[in-house]
Amino acid sequence: MEESGRARRGFLKGLVLAGAAGLLLWKYLVPAGETTKKTLLTVNKSELPARGALVFRESRVAIISEGEELYALSLVCSHLGCTVNVTAKQLVCPCHGSVFNRQGEPLKGPAVDPLRRLQIEDRGDALVVMA
Ligand code: FES
Repeated sequence: MEESGRARRGFLKGLVLAGAAGLLLWKYLVPAGETTKKTLLTVNKSELPARGALVFRESRVAIISEGEELYALSLVCSHLGCTVNVTAKQLVCPCHGSVFNRQGEPLKGPAVDPLRRLQIEDRGDALVVMA
């Protein structure tokens, strides 16, 4: 009986050590900060308005053009994840009433965090928005 308990403890110890070794290997084999970006959508540059927002409700993304600045915002509310609506002046969440300015910063709660800015990659005639 004592022999099998010792064997079981030895097996579990080996399992824990193998797991720790696997985690260490993973840490050194996968470069830090290296994450796979997910493509949310691709937009032809000719579709972009000179000023205003292009809203993709299905992808929950808005590409906003203001002056020289072009950026993409996630329309996922930072409060509890509802899809925010884009108006001419701000972004409004229909669920609990949070309001964000056009840069995605919260103006009225309950949301306290800004909307997430998404990465835009220029690919010639098209822009690719990635999360
Ligand atoms: S989910 Fe947007 S305010 Fe609550």
